[in-house]
Amino acid sequence: MTPAIETVALSRSFGGVHAVDGASLRVPAGQRRAIIGPNGAGKTTFFNCLTGVLRPTSGRILLFGADVTRMPEYRRARLGVGRTYQISNVFLGLTVLENVALAVHGTSRLKWMVHRSVDRLSDTREQALGELDKVGLAHRRDVVVRALSYGERRQLELALAMASRPRVLLLDEPTAGLAPAERQRVSELIADIPRAVTVILIEHDMSVVMGLADEVTVLHRGKVMLDGPPEVIQGNAEVREVYLGRR
Ligand SMILES: Nc1ncnc2c1ncn2[C@@H]1O[C@H](COP(=O)(O)OP(=O)(O)OP(=O)(O)O)[C@@H](O)[C@H]1O
Ligand SMILES: [Mg+2]
Repeated sequence: MTPAIETVALSRSFGGVHAVDGASLRVPAGQRRAIIGPNGAGKTTFFNCLTGVLRPTSGRILLFGADVTRMPEYRRARLGVGRTYQISNVFLGLTVLENVALAVHGTSRLKWMVHRSVDRLSDTREQALGELDKVGLAHRRDVVVRALSYGERRQLELALAMASRPRVLLLDEPTAGLAPAERQRVSELIADIPRAVTVILIEHDMSVVMGLADEVTVLHRGKVMLDGPPEVIQGNAEVREVYLGRR
């Protein structure tokens, strides 16, 4: 089957820094793939190439078999590449529901130019409430975002990402900085994302990786060092050395 995402010898340099250096990987549709690796391994840069925030220096990116290497970010988003929004990009003074409604609205704009329905606002509200319900934030709908806890903000980020109806969802450290209970909560929400959505997540917490990932890719100095099932990666001595900074 055509992979959801495939990269072929993907590279991105910043001056002399080879942040991503010939990384090739294939993520089958529906998979939960974790990308791990020490700080500076190139994980976020790799994501930024996938979304189109950054142009690769060389190599190719295929989305369900279509070459999107040179496609701008907004077009990839339209083809179904979703990511968590940094919460700083949302409207802190608006309510939770208003923010999700805006995200829903953003993705349906085209549809509405064709069918101008008087019901469109209530449709938007319904869909936004549905997304909030899925992440367990429906009861917080009328709270301004500024007043949410850190864990709740992460839940909102997921709702915002899902509002765009992605086919491939990229999550950059979704549990970073969370207390254990919140981390557990966010992991469960990710586990509940329908299999129709391919999920690629960057994650440092091995217990989250073990609980969620079908397969793990270890990135080291911009290269794919190893791919495999979570149990194999966890027990790998070389991977441990890399994390301890000995290689
Ligand atoms: N915009 C940029 N300009 C210059 N150098 C950059 C830029 N973005 C990343 N880098 C460099 O590229 C390398 C990889 O960075 P990247 O942020 O992709 O790593 P990471 O694996 O996400 O690390 P972390 O686990 O700390 O988030 C680092 O050496 C970083 O300093
Ligand atoms: Mg990073």
